[in-house]
Amino acid sequence: MKYDLGTGDLTNWMVCEDNFDTHYLGKCETIMALGNGYLGVRSATEERYSGEVRNTFIAGTFNRFDALEVTELPNCADVYEINFEIDGQLFHLTQGIVKSYQRFLNLKNGELTRKIIWISQSGKEIEFTFKRFISLDNRHLSGQQITMVCKNGNVNVIVKSGINGQMTNSGVQHFSEGEKRLFESDVLQMVQTTTESKIDIIVTATHTFESQGKYIKPESMILMDRRKIYNEFEFELEESKEIVITKYAYFSTSRDLEFEKKALKEIRKHSVQEIIEARQRGYEALIKDSEKAWHDQIWSECPIQIDSENAFDQLSIRFSQYHMRIMTPYHDNRMNIGAKGLTGEGYKGHTFWDTEIFILPYYIYSHPQIARRLLEYRYLCLSGAREKARANGYLGAMFPWESAWVTDGEVTPIWGAADIVTGKSTKIWSGFIEQHITADIAFATWQYFQITNDLDFMEQYGYEIIFETARFWSSRLEYSEEDQLLHINGVIGPDEYKEHIDDNAFTNYMAVFNMRLAIDYYEKLKMDNEHLFQRLNKKIGVDQIYKDLIEDIKRVYLPVPDDFGVIPQDKTYMSKKNIDLSPYKAQKHVGSLFRKYNLKQVNDLQVSKQADVLILMYLLENLFDKTVKLNCWDYYEPRTLHDSSLSLSTHSVLASDLGLYSLAYNLFSQAAEIDLGNNMKTSDHGIHGASLGGVWQCVINGFGGVRMLDGKLRIEPHLPENWQALTFSIYWQGEKLQVAIKKDEFIVTKLFSEKYITIEAFGTHFMFNDRVRVSY
Ligand code: BGC
Repeated sequence: MKYDLGTGDLTNWMVCEDNFDTHYLGKCETIMALGNGYLGVRSATEERYSGEVRNTFIAGTFNRFDALEVTELPNCADVYEINFEIDGQLFHLTQGIVKSYQRFLNLKNGELTRKIIWISQSGKEIEFTFKRFISLDNRHLSGQQITMVCKNGNVNVIVKSGINGQMTNSGVQHFSEGEKRLFESDVLQMVQTTTESKIDIIVTATHTFESQGKYIKPESMILMDRRKIYNEFEFELEESKEIVITKYAYFSTSRDLEFEKKALKEIRKHSVQEIIEARQRGYEALIKDSEKAWHDQIWSECPIQIDSENAFDQLSIRFSQYHMRIMTPYHDNRMNIGAKGLTGEGYKGHTFWDTEIFILPYYIYSHPQIARRLLEYRYLCLSGAREKARANGYLGAMFPWESAWVTDGEVTPIWGAADIVTGKSTKIWSGFIEQHITADIAFATWQYFQITNDLDFMEQYGYEIIFETARFWSSRLEYSEEDQLLHINGVIGPDEYKEHIDDNAFTNYMAVFNMRLAIDYYEKLKMDNEHLFQRLNKKIGVDQIYKDLIEDIKRVYLPVPDDFGVIPQDKTYMSKKNIDLSPYKAQKHVGSLFRKYNLKQVNDLQVSKQADVLILMYLLENLFDKTVKLNCWDYYEPRTLHDSSLSLSTHSVLASDLGLYSLAYNLFSQAAEIDLGNNMKTSDHGIHGASLGGVWQCVINGFGGVRMLDGKLRIEPHLPENWQALTFSIYWQGEKLQVAIKKDEFIVTKLFSEKYITIEAFGTHFMFNDRVRVSY
């Protein structure tokens, strides 16, 4: 990978691959993926390679293949494959000579470019420039353009390009084939319908050809195959004369809010009209609109400037913002963010706690209205969460560990990777017993409210989420005769290397936090908002919930520091066997422990997959003093393999808090490298969404020191050694603040209103209505 391709205005905006290697196709397919939160496309190349993974996903179009599988985002028909025959030889980089090669993604406007000079077997030197984008301005639309010039003589070119519905999710075909048709002699359209959820997906495409700035019409034939419709074009490419091929595609579905009430016929007609309009406007005009949307929505709305000796730092925060945008369905609150965004089949498009704990803070501080929509999704999932609680014998709302369509409920698969000892698939217990997600959602709801002051959200959705989740915990607690306390037994905490454990510190503390929140809100609502209180009481019986919570909360067991000042991760962790973890700490690929042990054996070792007690100390930071935090750091970090991409960023922020500054920077760099770095095998199954949110947290919450504590804004920065300055903007309770940090001072400027706000920094409160300068 190459990171310094961009110069001038594009410095630190370009991610570049300067060497094509068929062993590492997955890396750039993922990290250079394009999208807009509605549509997400892996950047597989135009010509096909064995080992490629060609994916087009449309958010929310979940389908369940059969009763033995869980629902997943189906891989829709592909439009990006285009094959070229040059004087009878297939254009392919493993044949002929590749004289020069470069592929780069411009994060600023979301355009992907590939420039190749290729010499065919018959010695013809052809310069190809491939470009494509998915519009951020019109989410249904994408453009693709190929410019070809032959440097030494004329060649005959055959181009095969169309819509290919033969795509599968690793062999699973999610669609019944609908009609394929040609409209107006050059618009192709294919309809596919998901087999179980019955969603129609309509893909429409058309091509133009230009030579010397004028449209031309090459010889063309329309071909149809099973689940495939395409054109075959033929033309003569004359020496040094450029031919420009442009392909426009329009994606629409019967699930789209704007088409929900329309008949399929109408959606199809509309799609044809849209593609004709797009063609009239042309590639350049369309990408300009998209570039403007990138500028308005992201780069001018919440810019982050890092003045670092290591230019990679600036690039990596932009890379995170780019990917968070393309993975987030801004357009529809019935959808959420998949753990791999829309960039791969990994985790099937499902949503985890990754959203609330890792990605949501970015949205709360940078785009609060989008954060609200993401939480509204959880509200819409309440019926599934209530159903899950009931099915498990509990009350209230027990949120699914993995979530898909709002009414689906729990969708975690049951069988996973190979167990090297038994030779069978390992059972995935998360869907049954990884329950902390319920408290994580309540925590995020509270965090959103504290930072935005959005009372309307709370009244419509938030309070209900908090009461129903608290009620779940109260019904979930188990009384022990032995100590006469209430326990949470048989769970998985954030550290998924420990299954069926009792009193996981993270789960218990977060559950109590959730319960306390409900108690506080009950008391507040009863006093301040009689009308809402009565409404909620009628709907979910908050009086009874409160009564139970008040009884229970005093008796919940919360692990306290042991003789060494360390909070035990769970009831048995400290008594488990220690092994030499150094080979695994130095591993090249995550999960190397499983080459020797199976999960059952790992369960009996003092080894953690990811931050567990330590993430608790970050989220509920006021509950623990610095000594306990340091003790826990010293105990758990050496036992943590960071086998989940969620781990490094949490450790980095906590290291910043604990004054372990160079370590904090080191961990941030490792987190930033997970996808963007030079390890070419990390991203095959898709992007690590939570880690990208985590990278943002390292910068803003870690080095920038931004924190919401007890409803107040605290800013206590500490820049890494090699950073001179950090500037960013955040929203705080409806106000927009620009924060400009230097080595020994920082300035906070209020961007629009005259209202006074207060921030806390290094023990002092600063009240201001325009700007404040703090030396540190
Ligand atoms: C992690 C979970 C995470 C999931 C999806 C797992 O490997 O252990 O914490 O939610 O991946 O990213």
